This record gives sequence, C-alpha cells and structure tokens, in this order.
Amino acid sequence: MNVFRINANSRPYVYWLGNREVPLFLIDDLYVDPDAVRQFAFERSFPESQAYYPGRHQPLPSNDPSIRIFSDFMAKVLSHATGKPISGSAISTDFSILTTPENGLLGLQGQPHIDATPMLGVIYLNSADFGGTVFFRNKETGSMSVVTDEHREQYARITTRSDENPGDKRYITDSSGIWEKVDVIDGNKNRLVIWPGNVFHSIEVKVPPDLGKVEEKRLTQRVIVNRIGQ
Ligand SMILES: [Fe+2]
Repeated sequence: MNVFRINANSRPYVYWLGNREVPLFLIDDLYVDPDAVRQFAFERSFPESQAYYPGRHQPLPSNDPSIRIFSDFMAKVLSHATGKPISGSAISTDFSILTTPENGLLGLQGQPHIDATPMLGVIYLNSADFGGTVFFRNKETGSMSVVTDEHREQYARITTRSDENPGDKRYITDSSGIWEKVDVIDGNKNRLVIWPGNVFHSIEVKVPPDLGKVEEKRLTQRVIVNRIGQ
C-alpha cells in the first residue's frame, strides 16, 4: 500500500517573506494519512548523517513506485508554481530526525545557512510542537538570500569566520549578531514548505534533540529539488 498518498483536497499556496522578497510554496494537509507516513519512517533505521544536518537521514529509493508517484506530483505542482520545467527525476526525498544537542554541534550546524540545491523543502510530521523553519536577513548585506557575487563573497567570509570560532555552539532561532529573524513557518503536522535554496534559514529547534527515544525526535521529510530545467 502507498503510505505517501496525497490528499486530493489539499491546495498549494504562495507565502511571501519580508517585503515580498522571497516566495515560499506551501501545502497544508498534504498527506491523506500523515501518521502512516510517520510510522513508516520509524520502522526504518536512519543510517546516514551528512555534514550540515545535525541529525540523521533515512534515504527513500527513487525507483520505488510510491516514491516515484510522490516525486512526479511534486514536479508537476512546482513546475506550475514556478513556470519552469522540473522533472520528477530531479526530485529526491528522505526522512530526517534531529538528534544533535547544542554542545555537540560542529562549526556552522546551528547557524542560518543556505542550501546547495535550487529548491529545498520539508514536510513536518510531528504532533507535538517541535518547531518549523526560521528565515533570516543578513544584516551585513541587507539581503535574505545569496544572489550577487558580493553576497557570495560575504557568505564565504562569515562561514570561514564561524569555522574559526567553534565556541558558538547554539541553534540560532532568533535575531542574533548579523542575523535578523524575518519570519517563521510553523511546523504544523502534515505541512509542506519549499524555499529557494539561496535563502537564509535555520531549523526552529524547540525541544532538545538529545531528549527521548528515536521515535520521539523531530521528524521531517525533505523534498530536494536537485535541478530546474530538462
Ligand atoms: Fe537547510
């Protein structure tokens, strides 16, 4: 049975951040049965960790028929929303759980950051309030995203600076230093939010990630748009 069935009554919408600077793409009540998706996730072992994410990932095979249907659906609605061609094969998805306590963070892991792909999103899958996603403005450039060469140079400078300062082991979820909190998307259960990869964001950590058993951690499903165009 396909646990990733999409709720036919759900409707996508656009939510603007800041002064209509960054469009986000949201769908509330995405899945027919989010608890089934959650249960499916926790029947797995979350074997992978990756440099930037302070937790573990559970890959989902792109050749699985239900994952293929999911990716094709995402491609279709995102193509429509952006007016650009996005194919199902350009989309990958996995589960993530947050596990790293603040004192275990490496370098930049708790800081606002940008992602390496053109678009990235998450589906929140928690019943309790485990937080959503916070979006920031970089006060040094005045921008919410990395667009120009100047923005890129500044981002390279601050990421180097943070590497040199391993003492700042915190999850940044509010205005701090050069970061101005602009908005937060609440982590409502069964909500999908997708952002442009070049916008500054961080995980809104509300519950210490080292608390509880694996199946009590903050669970999200990532939707990764690896490329736009054919
Ligand atoms: Fe990210």
